[in-house]
Amino acid sequence: MHDNHDHDIKNPTDNTPFAQVLQARLTRRQALAGGAAAAAVILTTTPADAMAGTVLANGNTPTTGWTDDSITFTPVPNAAASGPEPAISEDYEYQVLIPWGTPIQPNGPAFSYPPTSAADAEQQVGIGHDGMWFFSTGNGRGLLCVNHEFGRTSHVLGKDLPETLEEVRIMQAVHGVTVIKIVRDRYGAWSPVQSRFNRRITPNTPVRIAGPVAGSAYLETPAGNAPAGTVNNCANGYTPWGTYLTCEENFNGYFGATDEAWEPTERQDRYGFTSDGFGYAWHEFDPRWDLSNEQYTNEENRFGWVVEIDPNKPTQAPVKRTALGRFKHEGIALTIGRRGKAVGYMGDDQRFDYIYKFVGAENYEDALARGASPLDRGQLYAARFNEDGSGDWLELTIDNPALADAFSSQEEVLTFARAAADILGATPMDRPEWTAVGPTGHVYCTLTNNSRREEANAANPQAPNNDGHIIRWLDEDGHLGERFEWDIIRFGSDSIGTDYQFTDPDGLWVDPAGRIFIQTDGGQPDGQNNQMLVSNEAGEIRRLFSGVAGDEITGLAITPDRQTMFINTQHPGNGDPTLTNFPAPTDGVTVPRDATFVIRRKDGRIVGN
Ligand code: FEO
Ligand code: CA
Ligand code: CA
Ligand code: CA
Repeated sequence: MHDNHDHDIKNPTDNTPFAQVLQARLTRRQALAGGAAAAAVILTTTPADAMAGTVLANGNTPTTGWTDDSITFTPVPNAAASGPEPAISEDYEYQVLIPWGTPIQPNGPAFSYPPTSAADAEQQVGIGHDGMWFFSTGNGRGLLCVNHEFGRTSHVLGKDLPETLEEVRIMQAVHGVTVIKIVRDRYGAWSPVQSRFNRRITPNTPVRIAGPVAGSAYLETPAGNAPAGTVNNCANGYTPWGTYLTCEENFNGYFGATDEAWEPTERQDRYGFTSDGFGYAWHEFDPRWDLSNEQYTNEENRFGWVVEIDPNKPTQAPVKRTALGRFKHEGIALTIGRRGKAVGYMGDDQRFDYIYKFVGAENYEDALARGASPLDRGQLYAARFNEDGSGDWLELTIDNPALADAFSSQEEVLTFARAAADILGATPMDRPEWTAVGPTGHVYCTLTNNSRREEANAANPQAPNNDGHIIRWLDEDGHLGERFEWDIIRFGSDSIGTDYQFTDPDGLWVDPAGRIFIQTDGGQPDGQNNQMLVSNEAGEIRRLFSGVAGDEITGLAITPDRQTMFINTQHPGNGDPTLTNFPAPTDGVTVPRDATFVIRRKDGRIVGN
């Protein structure tokens, strides 16, 4: 979700306890700046020890290939990184793909503004392009899965509020996920093509709920309506068994209450439910989203999960994987830990919320072989970052007496994971956004900002944190351990005034050689647009791409040869055509539209080099 950057609070860094914390993290950061060898000085668990017996879980990563993380491209200069049009390194080129409203089949309904019917919108690419992944079928073909996080009502409908159920249905239809087949032509240009795999998933698509909470009373409504839909699909993950994971973030904002006497319960309050939500007003016309409608009690508990989609099974319902806990899921970095267990790292994007890890109960191939999901049985943990650079994964289990006092079952713990992590003393973070696992097994997480932090801790040492930072850790025991060592690798504030200045890191991916791709979402220094930068272990960093006025750059997918990357512009112009009309006008469209960029190096080398 776009976050208005907070420029009016200055960083009061000179109080004594804070200065001590700052010195401690600077020492660790200087050690890291020396590269892998120096990092090993403080990370006493070496990647080799921690990763013994593990494999990377990137289904699209070649098994042999690159270890060189050099960055050679000419960066986009600060002066070129603003204005209504994108800018890309002169060594690269880009192409626009599947803007909002593109028919998902060539003979589908053409985009019109404002959209005329929900039925048409359900056959078009949604808005709010965010997390995505490319499932290659080889030879420049494959299925692109794209999240549609959100669209403002004013942008979608051209007015501030829906006035009919049909208009609510249009709003719902532009949310969700698109699966679309794309093909590269002989000149390197990509385009969507007709395919039986192309489909839209929306807040009204039938879904299945699986894992420990399936069938529990927490997910049953008096109305008895079948589970449906996914909403506010933010970032994503992908599995080695070829499925896409889409993550429900600010689901609370779509609910509201028609009864003025309605008050949130303590647990609803912990998840941010209010009588107006984010002002979508769906609850005024569609009772499923009305928190005060007793027929739909618990409907809100059906959202806030990681949802698995098999792009190769177009008639299969998306599956909500409840073992991974319910919170405002930004994304999931899924890897395979020791003993073949699926391990997922996940951020809960809210000020002072937590970082989580899921560890599957068994070898993922064994689970698949008996027809079970590797994500339905396992253990969920929340992270505590200690002052000395160590960390602990705190088990969210009803077997812990501290949780048994407050919860009656594991189903309840998972449904209200935030409340369980509160009790265990997880570390409140500065808005955990994307997670990524690198080739050494280090896990990276963007902490985008926290203008309301008054009390620093070692892992979140700036109070307030206006510009964000990136933290990384290394778990013991090949991702299975309950201990880890962590460090901060970069602060946005340190970059201001340099030629790679950026703030508000959000999207994140680490390539198989260790290059770190950083995407931003927030007011950038000197009015620059949001951007994507590439960094490496030695600490080099360059700007590869800069978006358009008012947008955020988010989402990242790559072809197996890593010669083509896909990224997104979300909310270009914040929907305001006077800021930008990107990527129109090509067909008379009068509003800016969220879209995907295809990025290539002109010389055909891998993206990031
Ligand atoms: Fe949807 Fe936290 O970004
Ligand atoms: Ca966003
Ligand atoms: Ca984000
Ligand atoms: Ca963000």
